[in-house]
Amino acid sequence: MHLSIALLTLALAALPHSLATGPCTTDEDCSLNGRCVRDCRARPAARVCKCDPGWWGEDCGRLDLAPARRGDGYNHTSDVVPQPADYYGTQGNSSWGGTILQDRSDPRLFHLVTAQFGHGCGLGAWRPQSFVVRAESRTGPRGPYRFAQKLSGTFRHNPYAFWSEADGKYLMYTIGVDVEAPDNCKGVKWPNNISVSVAPTLQGPWSPFQLLINGTNPAPWPAYTPHHRTSEIILATEDLTIYTAPRYQGPYTQISQAPWNTSDYSPTWAEDPFLWRDKRGHWHALAHYMIDIVEHGGRKYPRVGAHMFARHLRGPWHFHQHEAYNSTVSFTDGTAQTLNRRERPKLFFSSDREMTPLYLVNGVQDLGSKASYTLVQPIGEKWKEFEKGLGF
Ligand SMILES: *[C@@H]1O[C@H](CO)[C@@H](O)[C@H](O)[C@H]1NC(C)=O
Ligand SMILES: *[C@@H]1O[C@H](CO)[C@@H](O)[C@H](O)[C@H]1NC(C)=O
Ligand SMILES: *[C@@H]1O[C@H](CO)[C@@H](O)[C@H](O)[C@H]1NC(C)=O
Ligand SMILES: *[C@@H]1O[C@H](CO)[C@@H](O)[C@H](O)[C@H]1NC(C)=O
Ligand SMILES: *[C@@H]1O[C@H](CO)[C@@H](O)[C@H](O)[C@H]1NC(C)=O
Ligand SMILES: *[C@@H]1O[C@H](CO)[C@@H](O)[C@H](O)[C@H]1NC(C)=O
Repeated sequence: MHLSIALLTLALAALPHSLATGPCTTDEDCSLNGRCVRDCRARPAARVCKCDPGWWGEDCGRLDLAPARRGDGYNHTSDVVPQPADYYGTQGNSSWGGTILQDRSDPRLFHLVTAQFGHGCGLGAWRPQSFVVRAESRTGPRGPYRFAQKLSGTFRHNPYAFWSEADGKYLMYTIGVDVEAPDNCKGVKWPNNISVSVAPTLQGPWSPFQLLINGTNPAPWPAYTPHHRTSEIILATEDLTIYTAPRYQGPYTQISQAPWNTSDYSPTWAEDPFLWRDKRGHWHALAHYMIDIVEHGGRKYPRVGAHMFARHLRGPWHFHQHEAYNSTVSFTDGTAQTLNRRERPKLFFSSDREMTPLYLVNGVQDLGSKASYTLVQPIGEKWKEFEKGLGF
């Protein structure tokens, strides 16, 4: 008896994050990132959250981040552009988050579509010095990624590129307008309208940008599934205002809005959503959470990730008010580093039907630095199988 209790205790202590449990009555109590199940050990009977791989915490609302490798992602803050005369700033090839895409014909080739700032100007001059680039990694999805080509001129920012099965094309949503950037690193207040461009391959040619809506920070998601072959696009934007369109060209109709207070400096202040649909058909968003700015006089860290979820696109949407991840990154070399900024969350998922998050991509900035780069951090355990399966 005592031995079996001791063994059980040992077994529980060895449980990975993904089985961490908290009391619940509905799957919403588990952030729709797991199931609320009967706990056979509990007397009297009780129900606890059983989290899906990649998520942990009492309510399964935290990303189970694994250590990152230093130098991974797209970190070119110390690069100098080729012509020194064109170099108006000192922030290298700073960048700010993006999407990882596995090449459709060469599975060992990974692309990162990211926003880069020209002329060494850095994040402070994001508007109008930002343009979209494609970077490549032949060393796996974590990178390191190297610059391959420009996909747009200025001012184009916050790109989200994906393969649209319904259209047989890549779609790339961005914010911005086509303008010539000035010969300096001064910021300009251009409008942030959302546009789309399409291409047969990631290398292009990319079509001229078509203006879709007056909004900012696009988070598109194709409604297409093998069982429901539709060209419908779901488009979440700032403050989780959600639109749908019968096809990517539009027209876009607003169908829902966040039910919480989205005002600046409210405790539910968040920006830059990333939207996805899970294996159960439920909807989720990660966003940049600004709770420390509210509670700590403008400090941007460490609670930087917000998770929101809904059974149905039209809601009700829920937001458990704690961070889904923070800005302290553990590295494989055993060190940890707290970043000043960690924003623009985007996930790369397993390509089986499980929709397991494998990597988190963020635009980041070190404490005390004005330069910025794009960090890739693995999640949970499944990314290991994915990389091994590809021979990395
Ligand atoms: C990114 O590059 C900068 C400049 O080389 C370096 O100081 C920083 O440690 C790098 N960050 C990571 C996470 O690799
Ligand atoms: C920096 O970006 C420029 C394009 O703006 C590119 O020509 C150059 O190759 C980049 N450098 C690296 C090392 O990525
Ligand atoms: C872009 O957005 C701005 C406001 O942010 C608006 O005034 C302008 O009309 C929009 N541009 C176009 C072409 O719709
Ligand atoms: C676009 O949106 C901005 C910000 O919400 C608003 O101030 C502006 O009036 C809008 N412009 C148009 C043309 O709808
Ligand atoms: C939303 O938050 C703002 C900022 O904290 C506050 O001023 C405002 O009263 C709140 N609105 C509501 C409806 O609670
Ligand atoms: C950040 O999150 C990690 C888990 O990913 C946790 O171990 C650490 O204590 C957190 N740090 C802060 C400052 O909250």
